[in-house]
Amino acid sequence: MSTLSENNFQAIISHAKEYGFVFPSSEIYDGLSAVYDYGPNGSELKKNIRDYWWKSMTQMHDNIVGIDAAIFMHPTTWKASGHVDNFSDPMIDNKDSKKRYRVDHLIEAKADQLREQGQEIAADALIAQMDVLLSADDYAGLKQLIEDHKIVCAVSGTGNWTDIRQFNLMFSTQLGSVAEDADTIYLRPETAQGIFVNFLNVQKTARMKIPFGIAQTGKAFRNEIVARQFIFRMREFEQMEMQFFVRPGTQMQWYNYWKEERLNWHLSLGLPREKYRYHDHVKLAHYADAALDIEFEFPFGFKEVEGIHSRTDFDLKSHQEFSKKKQQYFDNDIDETTGKPYGNYIPYVVETSIGLDRMFLLILSNAYEEEVIPKEDGTTDSRVVMRIPAKIAPNKLAILPLVKKDGLPEIARQLMDECKSSFKCFYEEKDAIGKRYRRQDAIGTPFCVTIDHQTKEDNMVTIRHRDSMKQERIPLSEVKQLVLNAIS
Ligand code: GAP
Repeated sequence: MSTLSENNFQAIISHAKEYGFVFPSSEIYDGLSAVYDYGPNGSELKKNIRDYWWKSMTQMHDNIVGIDAAIFMHPTTWKASGHVDNFSDPMIDNKDSKKRYRVDHLIEAKADQLREQGQEIAADALIAQMDVLLSADDYAGLKQLIEDHKIVCAVSGTGNWTDIRQFNLMFSTQLGSVAEDADTIYLRPETAQGIFVNFLNVQKTARMKIPFGIAQTGKAFRNEIVARQFIFRMREFEQMEMQFFVRPGTQMQWYNYWKEERLNWHLSLGLPREKYRYHDHVKLAHYADAALDIEFEFPFGFKEVEGIHSRTDFDLKSHQEFSKKKQQYFDNDIDETTGKPYGNYIPYVVETSIGLDRMFLLILSNAYEEEVIPKEDGTTDSRVVMRIPAKIAPNKLAILPLVKKDGLPEIARQLMDECKSSFKCFYEEKDAIGKRYRRQDAIGTPFCVTIDHQTKEDNMVTIRHRDSMKQERIPLSEVKQLVLNAIS
């Protein structure tokens, strides 16, 4: 990351905290690594992104329905999905102390040491090398890195290491009050499996015909080993996933459909096309016959925000095997080649999976701007403006009486009553108007309306547009519709 991007990213993180978007979790206890809380503006923005996704899936597509499955699932689910055996990250043991370390923790501790000794560049290089090796699953390379940097165990003081082995990313807990009888269950690492195990329940009760989709949003948990970059990679996060069930053989057609459809969803928020790109997976997961990432240019480079995966019939077939319950669909449409119904089959699945927190970070990083404003006298002013798409901004309209007397608050409150059931408004009467505008810019409110003494005479108000800072006089009675037009 360049220094400029690094500074910009740090500024976004500070801004997110200062203006009530994102706080470190349990901060009074010094926080919890890679876990975050959303503040008043953050929780509104997050909900708006979730709603925008949900509506685009379940309201704009008449062949997609939603579910809300539990986080806890029968433990066999994760055996069938392959997560018990394959969802893991590398760790290493010291042969003398028998102490076990996560490889990234060990290397990060060394980088911290280097930093304490003033060797910032060497520390950054070490972390960069580690990230490359981790993403390539190069365990021999990682062990070599540990040896080359003479990293030793804090307990034994030796560098006598085992080979690197896998560490499962799922969090587990016990179900049941008596320890001996308790079952180990997992916090779901993806929401998708809640959809797969409900495939027939949904298909039958909602009377869905293939092709159809099931959408779900909800928490997922992963004991991530590379957990940096703010809310980009978290240990507790939220996913918005949709599994689209199709006739075998048609999966590539639907894969291409969803590839385009999902990018269009991003662009429908007014986000810049040039900051997006597709990244096709070369190394496919064992269950996939095609996969790609939709990447966005974050301040730290192009990174995945959403995945489109053609998952074949792997999941349903595996659940059929483990549960011994048929996961078949009867397709009575006529196959033109045979002239007979397609009959029974296990559907293929095309999945779209986007991280809500990652989308939130995308919106924040794209919106944040430190703008220099030239003034008429040749000097400059500045402001921080969050250019959040109006449709998902935490507040849509700030209602500001110029002074808190002379009947102006009453008119403002009346407008608030008229608008608040249609969209979120913010009312404020403290401080000079310029200061109030700046505060709204900083939280991304697309419109401010000012009620002044003239309003009492002519029922006209000043609407101020966040992005252009342009102000115009419009009738008070038109304010609500103006905002509705911008957010619909
Ligand atoms: N069901 C498929 C699945 O879970 P994934 O690529 O592992 O696929 C999908 O995750 C999306 O979930 C990613 O594109 C990313 O946006 C989000 N995601 C994954 N791990 C995350 C993490 N630790 N923190 C935040 N978001 C994460």
